[in-house]
Amino acid sequence: MAEDNGKLERFEARINAGEKIEPKDWMPERYRQQLIRMMSQHAHSEVVGMLPEGNWITRAPSLRRKMVLLAKVQDEAGHGHYLYSATETLGVTREEMLEKLLSGKAKYSNIFNYPTLTWADIGVIGWLVDGAAIVNQTMLAKTSYGPYSRAMIRICKEENFHKKQGYEIVATMARGTPAQRKMVQDALNRWWWPTLMMFGPHDKDSPNSGDLLRWKVKLKTNDELRQRFVDITVPQAHAVGLTIPDPELRYNEETGHWEFGEIDWDEFWRVIRGNGPCNKERLAARRKAHQEGAWVRAAAEAYARKHGREPGKAA
Ligand code: 3HC
Repeated sequence: MAEDNGKLERFEARINAGEKIEPKDWMPERYRQQLIRMMSQHAHSEVVGMLPEGNWITRAPSLRRKMVLLAKVQDEAGHGHYLYSATETLGVTREEMLEKLLSGKAKYSNIFNYPTLTWADIGVIGWLVDGAAIVNQTMLAKTSYGPYSRAMIRICKEENFHKKQGYEIVATMARGTPAQRKMVQDALNRWWWPTLMMFGPHDKDSPNSGDLLRWKVKLKTNDELRQRFVDITVPQAHAVGLTIPDPELRYNEETGHWEFGEIDWDEFWRVIRGNGPCNKERLAARRKAHQEGAWVRAAAEAYARKHGREPGKAA
């Protein structure tokens, strides 16, 4: 319709001028739907991401490591809450989002469907997975949707602590006994390629990137962010004497980039379609936690009704 065309033009002019779009502003339905998809899946990833690391809280090798890991896992819960709240501003309820996760309909990051087999995994996750999240989320901090951008700014501050504590574990083990060095190299070998997959398929195979780049939800492409992550991380591995498990890795003096081998996209699609090593275990754990938390939600809603507040809304 001509009226909507005018609105679309004004909307795009605002975005191209660097303005933030706020919940009550006019936005194309496609923009709204893309944000609901991306932001809710981001929130799901934060909450499911608590599971692989939570698995090691009771087995941390020292009280200090336990306290740091506890703080990190609690942070991830808070990130999930920020992101669910930011997504609710687009007119979708928390219940609708959780139903999609718990029914297996919604995606969450591929990376959380792998097992954490040793303590070294906790260090490598902080270093690689949170490192990848920092590359992605510092870009998203500039996204055109106001609530998402502000949530990212807050989250990025905490991610830096997450990465530093992980890299400290990795560096400590890499300097440790031969058994510790072997353990951390084994963890790197298992997590390196799934971490590269976190950035999504190649740009040519990314059906959502067109909309997201046009409306500055994403300001960099999947491949650009993946390359940035590799360029940052390879020197960090070499600094602690670890080997990146990629025989095709080589530094290109001309471009200044680390060139790397091809990703196993069959594994990527297999995992995100629900057939990864831990998908079933992760969803079962989320469903169990949701059931066990039903009484808390009921109590909070009863309290809200008693005090004349709308259940699920802050005072
Ligand atoms: N895991 C699961 N699914 C993925 C994926 C991944 N790593 N990468 C892509 N996909 C899915 C997409 O969701 C899309 O499926 P859909 O249309 O059914 O949703 C399909 O594969 C095609 O991918 P596209 O490239 O077209 O999708 P996007 O343009 O949305 O790009 C993305 C994917 C890069 C993950 C983007 O959505 C994004 O940047 N999301 C926000 C960041 C995020 O979700 N991070 C998850 C990690 S959270 C985290 O790391 C927590 C930290 O504290 C450790």
